[in-house]
Amino acid sequence: MNPHFCLLGVAAVTASLFFIARGAKRTTAKQLRIVFVSVPAGDKAAELARLIVNSHLGACVKVLPPLTSYYIYEGQFNEDAEQVLMIKTSEAALEELEQLVKSNHPYDVPEFLAVPVDYAHAPYAEWLINGSHMEWDLYYFLSGKKPAPTDVSECPAFQKLKEFVDSKRKMSTDLKPVYETIDKRRDEWIQILKESIAIESVSSDPARRGEVRRMVEWTMAYLSKQGAKCWLEELGEQTLHDGKKLPLPPCLLGELGHDPKKKTVLLYGHLDVQPARKEDGWNTEPFVMVESDGKLWGRGTSDDKGPVLSWIHAIQVLNEHKIEIPVNIKFCFEAMEESGSEGLTELLQRKKTDGWLADVEYTCISDSYWLGTEKPCLSYGLRGICSYHVEVSGLQQDLHSGVYGGSVYEPLNDLFYLMSQLMDVNGKILIPGIMDQVAEVTQIEKEAYEKIDFDVKEYRESVGAAKLPSEHKETLLMNRWRFPSLSVHGVEGAFSDPGDKTVIPSKVSGKFSIRVVPNMEPENINSLVAKYLNELWEKRGSGNKMKLITNQGSVPWVHPIDHPHFKAASRAVKKVYNVEPDFIREGCSIPITLTFQELTGHSVILLPTNASDSMAHSQNEKMRTHCYIDGIKLLATYLMELGH
Ligand code: BES
Ligand code: MN
Ligand code: MN
Repeated sequence: MNPHFCLLGVAAVTASLFFIARGAKRTTAKQLRIVFVSVPAGDKAAELARLIVNSHLGACVKVLPPLTSYYIYEGQFNEDAEQVLMIKTSEAALEELEQLVKSNHPYDVPEFLAVPVDYAHAPYAEWLINGSHMEWDLYYFLSGKKPAPTDVSECPAFQKLKEFVDSKRKMSTDLKPVYETIDKRRDEWIQILKESIAIESVSSDPARRGEVRRMVEWTMAYLSKQGAKCWLEELGEQTLHDGKKLPLPPCLLGELGHDPKKKTVLLYGHLDVQPARKEDGWNTEPFVMVESDGKLWGRGTSDDKGPVLSWIHAIQVLNEHKIEIPVNIKFCFEAMEESGSEGLTELLQRKKTDGWLADVEYTCISDSYWLGTEKPCLSYGLRGICSYHVEVSGLQQDLHSGVYGGSVYEPLNDLFYLMSQLMDVNGKILIPGIMDQVAEVTQIEKEAYEKIDFDVKEYRESVGAAKLPSEHKETLLMNRWRFPSLSVHGVEGAFSDPGDKTVIPSKVSGKFSIRVVPNMEPENINSLVAKYLNELWEKRGSGNKMKLITNQGSVPWVHPIDHPHFKAASRAVKKVYNVEPDFIREGCSIPITLTFQELTGHSVILLPTNASDSMAHSQNEKMRTHCYIDGIKLLATYLMELGH
């Protein structure tokens, strides 16, 4: 249910606050937030109400800083808040107050309901002031769990309140027929995903840049078919490490709906994928999607073509059912995400300048994973990433190790010397100064990690490891999400084919990256890395040359979960999966997330449809078929919930 504004009278507000609080206390499944504005500030009756509620519920209603001359009282009770704002004022001040509250209050409450106070109406007054003998309270009324007593329903104020609540309810369209259609068309959706997987849109491979563009165009055609207006934004050129230039793939932008009365959601996803070759250890051809064992196998099924298509199917099926989507939609599907989203920040800055982003109130990204394989989650944090290439060279060309071995400084040996000193065996980063920049873990955070349902043994088995550096649940999760980590990815230029080749490679490039968390600054991290490597190099005393190549890196993102956007997404999860979602952070990076948040000035959410075992970036990437299909339901429901 949406947050509500209710305008109540002097005595009524005290009584209602009390009843609501009692209702909330009795109900364990729901949290109720009450925002209570009193006029004028420090009003005695309002203060009394607060004291009464606190004394019965254990000091849970607090006074928030005044809004000019008004006071807000906020009380928070159980899980999963529904929000009620109660304002007590004279009718004369109503209009002024409405404006003030709308422009200043710290909550994203879309509507303001003024219920005229009818002190004279006896049943209403009785209902409000003396609820105890009726076993009735406003909380139950708002949540529709009990019918209103007949004598109260005669009251005009009551009727107005009821109309308001009912109108909200009507908007939550029953999506059952939509879900049935989605299930029925399963094979069709799978076929479309298969078609997209066959397009080898590997953004890191210059040779396949044409395929990346083809993927963007393919998606544009499919999205246009659903009635969206789409276009391509060219992003200019990419300069490769060797200085060569290559056109960047375009970014697909689009719009669906222009109702000024509706809010606008921006959907972001990516159409490019990580490299994959069957020889890497795939059981099937990575770009030929196969369904077996209830799963869809192929590069990009989960990251991120499956979820992008789920958005499009969701819109398609809502359209076909003639259900009015309660938000305007904008699309941003890029094709360089796996290569650092090159060119996208600049594009979005231009789109802010030309006003395209101005009405975007929500951004939603479906490009992450659940914590496990069964329970959905909402993600509210990502780590950033700083990537490095360490180049060691010194020989004119590769040399026969029998002829030249023993007489030259070997680049690969030098590189191993450097790379082996980046972290210790347990993953501790050995570069001085890095850990000093990490924000301290608060007590509240510690407690939040304790509450997370996570099976360490299952996790260990899922990655096929015999032992983990830490098997302590909270430490393990914090190491994944809350602390930086360093990973060594590979070496370019070294012999890596099967069999032996007795050669001394002349030029090698070691690749590693550091995942960064608040309050680490990529620029700062880059200079710490450079300083450390230069010192090691000095000590090494090799005759070769060492060069460190850095990029600008991407910053971490964390979002408060106590936000209506997260509430809407939670309701969608509940409707589709019938469970409350986990709230988690992620160790991974989606570099553009914070940019959306900063440029729109509004919230971003990560809403995954995918189980944790998708093996994105790795061999045998997959999407569970039911995740793909239920994902369409989830995303459709999310769009509908945004309107409530
Ligand atoms: N979808 C991932 C990010 C992700 C994975 C978020 C799992 C949450 C959970 C994204 O496609 C990705 O792979 N990002 C890269 C970014 C990098 C190449 C700049 C990453 O994290 O390695
Ligand atoms: Mn992704
Ligand atoms: Mn990825």
